[in-house]
Amino acid sequence: MSEYILEMQDIVKEFPGVRALDEVNFKLKKGEIHALVGENGAGKSTLMKILSGVYPYGSYEGKIIINGEVQRFNTTKDSEVAGVGIIYQELTLVKQMNICENIFLGNEFQKYGVIDWNHAMAKTQELLKEVGLTTNPATKIINLGIGRQQLVEIAKALSKNVNILILDEPTAALNEADSDNLLEIIKKLKDEGISCIYISHKLKEVKAIADTITIIRDGKTIETFENDDKINQNRIITGMVGREITQLFPRVEHTPGEVVLDVKDWTVYNPELPDKKEINNVSFQARKGEILGIAGLMGSGRTELMMSIFGAYGINKSGEIYINGKKAMIKGPRDAIEKGLCYLSEDRKKTGLVLGMDIKENITLSSLNKISSMMGINQNEEIKVANHYVDALNIKTPSIEQKTRNLSGGNQQKVVIAKWLMAAPEILILDEPTRGIDVGAKYEIYNIMNQLVAQGVSIIMISSELPEVLGMSDRILVMHEGKLTADLDWKETNQEGVMHYATGGA
Ligand SMILES: Nc1ncnc2c1ncn2[C@@H]1O[C@H](COP(=O)(O)OP(=O)(O)OP(=O)(O)O)[C@@H](O)[C@H]1O
Ligand SMILES: [Mg+2]
Repeated sequence: MSEYILEMQDIVKEFPGVRALDEVNFKLKKGEIHALVGENGAGKSTLMKILSGVYPYGSYEGKIIINGEVQRFNTTKDSEVAGVGIIYQELTLVKQMNICENIFLGNEFQKYGVIDWNHAMAKTQELLKEVGLTTNPATKIINLGIGRQQLVEIAKALSKNVNILILDEPTAALNEADSDNLLEIIKKLKDEGISCIYISHKLKEVKAIADTITIIRDGKTIETFENDDKINQNRIITGMVGREITQLFPRVEHTPGEVVLDVKDWTVYNPELPDKKEINNVSFQARKGEILGIAGLMGSGRTELMMSIFGAYGINKSGEIYINGKKAMIKGPRDAIEKGLCYLSEDRKKTGLVLGMDIKENITLSSLNKISSMMGINQNEEIKVANHYVDALNIKTPSIEQKTRNLSGGNQQKVVIAKWLMAAPEILILDEPTRGIDVGAKYEIYNIMNQLVAQGVSIIMISSELPEVLGMSDRILVMHEGKLTADLDWKETNQEGVMHYATGGA
């Protein structure tokens, strides 16, 4: 028998105007962790959707062979029967249902025609143990943090007896501790003989966990190699983008001007737990022409701080906000935008994008005044700016008329980013702007941030990636448990310095 549990041979997949996969070859050994890496739009998710039967047999060319047998999946159920489990780029759990219901959704144990929930509960408990969770199976998903939700997704996959587990960017939204935990679980599953295909833009993780790495670029397999001591992150990046990238952060000298945003004694109570202060007496200033980084662990209140200032979080709040020296009462997001404040949310696929509209419409949606005159929208101008951003951010698409629904995960995010970069408000708040974005595109986003700052925009950037905060910010605010614990000059600090304050050090 072959040492490969899976072989995908000469896979070709076309969408209108796009050859997403062009004779891709991929082989997975039994019991290995095989990382699949490549730029946004390279074809990673599409390849995995073929393997899991989302795109059925007949809608692609090429062969899927599992344990020596050619497979022809018509549905995802067929792939499950063959032992393939997939965890998608977006979480798919039903928030209002509990863990047990989610795991056995469409798959319920039946006894005399009724669902045997006692059995299901017991089985769920077992599965949760597999992924290191001690949570009650009757807990609703909505009450779980995103890290635990991801583990429930894995438990759900395990309930179907998987031999091949596909994880598509499982840690994109996880904090460091949850990510480490997830990686440990994957290693444990590997020891139990489960083979794993791991997709991630976090190359540090790929380096840490993968046995083998396959790189795809523009829908083609570029290379497959063992992840041994000779391989470093730079080597992987070079394979992905096809050239060497020597610098990850384009730092330029900024000359900060006057204070544009002045927040005083800002306190915000949790909307659900009225006694809990999410933000505790925070004061800070942001200046014209600077990048202000906000660091802190997940749950430290960074997002709540900025969302509450933007008027999108919290009802019971106190403190004062001054914009350009004038006291501002921000009633809600619309009001904030009118006052020159924009917020790019970390959950941008839900809040930032209109999936049924095309790229051009999404990019210009918040800047119609810039491309309109008395005569209405200037369509030439709209096309021009949209093309500009598609080039600048290297958005992979056949045209600016493509519906954003049809873009890859990372390219959807680039569209939302382009939209706010184009709006170029006075104060631009970016919450995890490069999450799920490939290394090359990150660099382009940083360049545009620098351009905006040079034009006098004030950028506030929340990021969990310490190298990014340290690499791009002029100043770094650090948060811990709803309080501001430090205001640091980038030149006078480093990762250890930031972590010290992020973990509550004085
Ligand atoms: N339903 C679709 N209709 C049209 N084009 C599509 C569709 N799905 C994917 N594509 C295109 O196929 C290509 C590959 O997309 P895919 O989602 O596989 O990329 P990816 O490698 O997973 O990228 P990312 O890292 O951004 O998630 C992209 O150019 C994308 O725009
Ligand atoms: Mg993808």
